[in-house]
Amino acid sequence: SLTHLPPKLTSVKALLAESPALSSLPSSYTFPEHRNDEAFSDTNESIPTLDFSLLTSSNPDERSKMIQELGNACQDWGFFMVTNHGVPESLMKAMIEACRQFFELTEEEKGEYEGKHVLDPIRSGTSFNASVDKVLYWRDYLKIFQHPEFHSPNKPPAFREIAMEYSTRVRQVARELIRGISESLGLEENYIEKAVNLENSLQIMIANLYPPCPQPELAMGLPAHSDHGLVTLLIQNEIGGLQVQHNGKWVNVDPIPNSFLANIGDHVEILGNGKYKSVLHRAVVNNRDVRISIALSNGPALDAAVSPASKFLEDGRNPPTYRAMKYKEYVELQQSNKLDGKSCLERIRNTTI
Ligand code: SIN
Ligand code: FE2
Repeated sequence: SLTHLPPKLTSVKALLAESPALSSLPSSYTFPEHRNDEAFSDTNESIPTLDFSLLTSSNPDERSKMIQELGNACQDWGFFMVTNHGVPESLMKAMIEACRQFFELTEEEKGEYEGKHVLDPIRSGTSFNASVDKVLYWRDYLKIFQHPEFHSPNKPPAFREIAMEYSTRVRQVARELIRGISESLGLEENYIEKAVNLENSLQIMIANLYPPCPQPELAMGLPAHSDHGLVTLLIQNEIGGLQVQHNGKWVNVDPIPNSFLANIGDHVEILGNGKYKSVLHRAVVNNRDVRISIALSNGPALDAAVSPASKFLEDGRNPPTYRAMKYKEYVELQQSNKLDGKSCLERIRNTTI
């Protein structure tokens, strides 16, 4: 009966609209110890920067040097910045602006997109996996499936056209990176494409809104997680907040303007049987500025079953580290569970005797 429906969660945006002078964090958002339990890096260790134009260079030496660098970046960090990617800066800015306007819509307007299921093509909501989160995350989101079928909210009016162009351009960059990653693993350039049916790739836009938070040291924007899929490409407004796990420490990342921050996802780790790791990352919040980030997740086709490439199993001498699983099932697993700061890959790891 209706009385058993869980209460609808208020977005962070609406919470602040109701209490504009909010000076302390509500207990439902308070993490007692998260900021003290980790070693923080204050050294400016920097994420590798890759010149995308060299990846498509007709000079074979330039290209193979770039593949090498890409492989090193995947191995050392799992994250890298991509410059000279050819996507117009004006389009990236327009996309951020369109998302900002979406978040400005009334709660009622956004409520139209309140998804019920993790595979609903448009979902607007708050926190991380709200149905299982014990403490809420200081984050509102909009998630949209953009490929193989393109979806868009109808408001704001310009959203659809900008998002269609943006997702198409990002998919081209992602495909080129996936070819490079395939080659850097010592596989055929098109191995991954074929193995995951990239033509029907599931592409999801995840737009995140992190409003200023009264006690940011007690709150979290997003918990530590690794991304499902192959490659995620992220842009943000000029405000930092992303942290990446590197050599056991959290490193603050400030993407350089007009670049993408790319990271490899769980399905690259699976395909390489663990050669490249899908790295944990999280988002922290601040008390001054609204932060908006937009991640485009580029994954296998929903019905593709992904398992380690046989090359990495060395004729049976290396057992497969992960169970084969359909991407669709993996996404459902990742999006509907409490992950406790661990990678969802732990759920499909083969345990050896
Ligand atoms: C993400 O991990 O999907 C986005 C994190 C961020 O807001 O930078
Ligand atoms: Fe992520």
